[in-house]
Amino acid sequence: MSADGVDDSPEAEDWLPVLSFEEAFADDAKPSVSSRRKQRRAERASIRSAHERAGTRELRAVFQVLEALPAALPDLAANTRQVAGRAGGYCRDGVANTAADAEGEADETLPAPKKPKGRKHCPDVAEVDALLTQATAVLRTDCPYGALPEVFAPPEGLAILSAMIERPPKYQEKYLGQEWSILTKVSSLQEVVWALAGSPDGQEGKDIAVVDIGAGNGSLAMLAALLLGGHAVLVDHTLPPEPLRVEGRLPAEYRHRILRVTGDVGDLDAQEALEPVLAKHGLSRVVVIAKHLCGVGTDLALKLLRRWCWDGLTSGAHRAELLGAVIATCCGHKIGTEDAQVYREIHARDPYLTRITGQDGDRLETFLKICTRCVAWRTTAGASANRITDKQVRAAELFEDALQEPRSLAAASLL
Ligand SMILES: C[S@@+](CC[C@H](N)C(=O)[O-])C[C@H]1O[C@@H](n2cnc3c(N)ncnc32)[C@H](O)[C@@H]1O
Repeated sequence: MSADGVDDSPEAEDWLPVLSFEEAFADDAKPSVSSRRKQRRAERASIRSAHERAGTRELRAVFQVLEALPAALPDLAANTRQVAGRAGGYCRDGVANTAADAEGEADETLPAPKKPKGRKHCPDVAEVDALLTQATAVLRTDCPYGALPEVFAPPEGLAILSAMIERPPKYQEKYLGQEWSILTKVSSLQEVVWALAGSPDGQEGKDIAVVDIGAGNGSLAMLAALLLGGHAVLVDHTLPPEPLRVEGRLPAEYRHRILRVTGDVGDLDAQEALEPVLAKHGLSRVVVIAKHLCGVGTDLALKLLRRWCWDGLTSGAHRAELLGAVIATCCGHKIGTEDAQVYREIHARDPYLTRITGQDGDRLETFLKICTRCVAWRTTAGASANRITDKQVRAAELFEDALQEPRSLAAASLL
């Protein structure tokens, strides 16, 4: 006997009345409308959960994005039409018409299924894989995301730094690798500085400005300036609250090595805003760093540097030299419609974008719209309880590569 008084012992079934055929199928034995509805609801719920397990919705999300790509990338158009007509099925509300569709086992020898009214194409895994492979071939870059090490630095440093720096784990994971990598790259310039100085005496970096664009509190720039023996020049359109500024936390004798320039990197004129500061402090060599400049902030920073380098980093009698630039980007998904035009203008002559879009500005904007919608899939994949699939991550990394390539080329052309 169960707690609610129902006899659920196996023998209890023996006492249920046995109905004749007529009794069982008599009109009054037909399921009521509400019980039929209940049954349909249960069936739909069970199909939905089968598709949740199979990741049908996520597969469709990546498929739709890849399917839109040929409008931006002419080289993809012909191949994609061929693949898109071959496999998959049609489904309603994210539900494929067969289990095989959801599991990616559609028979490629079958003709393409006709699209029934009101149903959406339900791609299968093989179809999405084929589109991804084609997109990868067109968007290939010299240094794809997957080939990058997680940190460009001795790995044990990460564990040590994370034990020393107190920060919520989410930020620790996001920032630490980049900070440690930037510092390692900057410290490699130290050797150049020492070699140029001939016999180092501790003063060899005193003419160096570490210009941090989008510096925020300035801690990273200060560490980089310490490594090289110079000043930190913090450029930001927003002055952080006083308690967060690095200058307020340093021992007094280091504070004079922090210089701030407040302004938007998109509007700043280096000759007007930066060079007088450098000249005043006898800083003639520049190392640029930038970390997490969202959206097109990185592109604007590159534009500023490009103009500055073309102008020769000079103003009147003051001459400056760019020693290097280390830039860690972020938040491609924040490149909105207006930003896409900025990106388009800044990278108008980029050879990579010219190759993939056929030097057509509208195609480039279409491409950016597609890419920026999905680059966050990769970061979301690290969040708890997310449903991002490996196909989405693969697409996100591909788009990230494409967004970054013109930036790498622009940065390389500075030196
Ligand atoms: C995400 S925070 C990163 C701060 C710091 N670089 C770090 O990694 O801790 C981005 C910083 O860039 C600044 N920033 C964003 N866009 C900018 C722009 N167009 N011009 C100047 N500063 C900008 C913001 O005010 C903010 O301090």
